[in-house]
Amino acid sequence: MPEPLTVTFPPAFLWGAATSAYQIEGAVRQDGRTPSIWDTFSHTPGKTAGGETGDIAVDHYHRYRDDVALMADLGLSAYRFSISWSRVQPTGRGPAVQVGLDFYRRLVDELLAKGIKPAITLYHWDLPQELEDAGGWPERDTAYRFAEYAQIVGEALGDRVEQWITLNEPWCSAFLGYGSGVHAPGRTDPAATLRAAHHLNLAHGLGTSALRAVMPARNQVAISLNSSVVRPVSQDPADLMAVQKIDDLANGVFHGPILHGSYPPSLFAATASVTDWSYVQDGDLAAIRQPLDALGLNYYTPALVSATAEATAGPRADGHGASDHSPWPGAEDVTFHQTPGERTEMGWTIDPTGLHELIMRYAAEAPGLPLYITENGAAYDDKPDPDGNVHDPERIAYLHSHLAAVRRAITDGADVRGYYLWSLMDNFEWAYGYEKRFGAVYVDYTTLARTPKSSARWYAEAARTGTLPPVRPAA
Ligand code: FCB
Repeated sequence: MPEPLTVTFPPAFLWGAATSAYQIEGAVRQDGRTPSIWDTFSHTPGKTAGGETGDIAVDHYHRYRDDVALMADLGLSAYRFSISWSRVQPTGRGPAVQVGLDFYRRLVDELLAKGIKPAITLYHWDLPQELEDAGGWPERDTAYRFAEYAQIVGEALGDRVEQWITLNEPWCSAFLGYGSGVHAPGRTDPAATLRAAHHLNLAHGLGTSALRAVMPARNQVAISLNSSVVRPVSQDPADLMAVQKIDDLANGVFHGPILHGSYPPSLFAATASVTDWSYVQDGDLAAIRQPLDALGLNYYTPALVSATAEATAGPRADGHGASDHSPWPGAEDVTFHQTPGERTEMGWTIDPTGLHELIMRYAAEAPGLPLYITENGAAYDDKPDPDGNVHDPERIAYLHSHLAAVRRAITDGADVRGYYLWSLMDNFEWAYGYEKRFGAVYVDYTTLARTPKSSARWYAEAARTGTLPPVRPAA
């Protein structure tokens, strides 16, 4: 469908950008911080591109003032960042370290002084290593530890931060961390993957209750899910069954208990040979299903699947990194296909219709719940020109088409309140190291100098006017 010439958003729409602690902060050994699973993983040979780590990242821990000034320059109305658990509660247990919390207090004060709404993600994948040593997310105790940590941060920052997100993309924590092993802690155990998913759900529920117990009632609690848009290669019943399997493993396993208080029965059936789910204890589902104030959706690309008679070997096409181990327990008979169309530097197909579909699905799945796009964006091989300017027309086109899809969903009745571009600036892209650049702001990794790309200027104009500027050819 061609986009209308003028795409204008409601006046209260939030124009944000997002980051996460391990991807930007650096200063990993400073002020009492202890290692997280991502410190351990990235320092393990062969786990990240070029052996790169977040030791320095983009040194945001020391440059946060300049970074907030840059956000103000770009006219952002909101900023989503995550807290490093290992910084505020080293080892994941015991009392809070005030100096660690002070960093986030200063950051929040700086944001508020510039009129930028902070949105805190409590957990963006960086579990304190000692909790992994004690069993990690497959163990129930980790959920209790998370609730305690949520309380600590809620007490410290609940007076000045209104928007809270418990977990970022628990699918990645469980299925890439414990299934395919391409993310920390790098385990490849299908049963542990599903146990991890349940305990992440429990952590979300207990963490939500813990936050509410210590925070002013006006604050909003949400979770950010990277729910997949799963499409079949044909309407053949076997292919539709493949969609159902992946939908359960990608989406229902989280939104089932979180929004509806139950796991999909078809998920239990499909994973019966992997796990008996006996770790789902009485009372867990009630604890997980907490009333939420909003739902965060992260979207990059849709998935295309079919049924296969036998498991296929060869490169994985599900866009989640190279591994001999599938992240999808119980779905050995499903094949992922490359979706047609242009792709970003990640190899992810550009398809804004998927974002519209995702929003409309959750508008129906959770009627009345405000939605936020808590991540969306694209990696490109950006390079400064001889004058030092960074032109990224492909990213502008990506943002334009995806924001237009958001606007279309609003017109179609979805209550989308804001959009957080991933990412504010180039940063440590997990197993891909620094080679994939998602930023609207370019980072020179030798000097750590920040340069807004042309997409940042484009986005700033959108934020200022509430209307998408046209997509111009590269200058
Ligand atoms: C999401 C992550 C974020 C970043 C983007 C590209 O899955 O939440 O940290 O890696 O993908």
